[in-house]
Amino acid sequence: MAKKKLMLNDFYLMKKESRKITWLTSYDFPTAQFAEAAGLDMLLVGDSLGMCVYGYPGTVPVTMDQCIMHCEAVRRGAPNTFVIGDMPFLSYQTCNEKAVENAGRFLKEANVDAIKLEGGVRVVPRIKAIVEAGIVVVGHVGLTPQSSGALGGHKAQGRTAEAAKLVVEDALAVQDAGAHLILVEAVPPEVTRYIHRALTIPVLSIGAGPHCDGQLLIVSDMIGQFQAFTAKFVKKYSNVAEIIIKAMSEYCGEVRSGVFPSYEHCYRMIEGEEQRFLELMQSEGAKL
Ligand code: KIV
Repeated sequence: MAKKKLMLNDFYLMKKESRKITWLTSYDFPTAQFAEAAGLDMLLVGDSLGMCVYGYPGTVPVTMDQCIMHCEAVRRGAPNTFVIGDMPFLSYQTCNEKAVENAGRFLKEANVDAIKLEGGVRVVPRIKAIVEAGIVVVGHVGLTPQSSGALGGHKAQGRTAEAAKLVVEDALAVQDAGAHLILVEAVPPEVTRYIHRALTIPVLSIGAGPHCDGQLLIVSDMIGQFQAFTAKFVKKYSNVAEIIIKAMSEYCGEVRSGVFPSYEHCYRMIEGEEQRFLELMQSEGAKL
């Protein structure tokens, strides 16, 4: 039986009933299939694909077209999962019109269920405009990787009382602007707990502790695929890099030694055709 697709009202019910929402990133068709089979509640086609798929040093170079293409693949792999498209750098910062147009592209071209954009007080007009267009919006406060340069690097936010107050103000502004869900990234759990008590919309965490309505991790981190670095909040549930490298090394060894391919992995001629084939070639004067 096909999995029941959860929608926004289900996430509000889960919050009310204190049932945690499970969320991972996904960038491609096979991973989306695995995620749907595993029963994930939501998937984010994050602009982290810049680092996890394309090998860029950060998320800034990622384009709208790349995001749309990866959303399309994830939608095909997980037709019964709530999929969120992540708006890349400069797809929404400059003006409301551009923000609405680009948010709309995610829905029209990739059939996602919602979009996510980074920022608090400073993106309030963009959130209002996108929500007014009828699009489900996920806000994102705390560490916002697209502006990590301005934040002094990929650093935890809200670690002093004043900095924590700013994160809370951002979260309240995002909710007041009409966002339907909010992600808090890389802040201490005490700050997330405060936000969770202050807000009525579901609050999700990535590296922001347990006191909220659900968790997000980057799939490439939690399966042990992304090798460049491991953030403090990442828990590795597998080490697929090790598994893949072992399989590839074994393949190289077997090709070099002639163990692969064996006849088991070869197509066979139809019974009696090999003899006929040799006779045919002989009759044509071919030298064997
Ligand atoms: O792009 C992404 O995966 C994200 C997470 C880091 C929250 O925005």
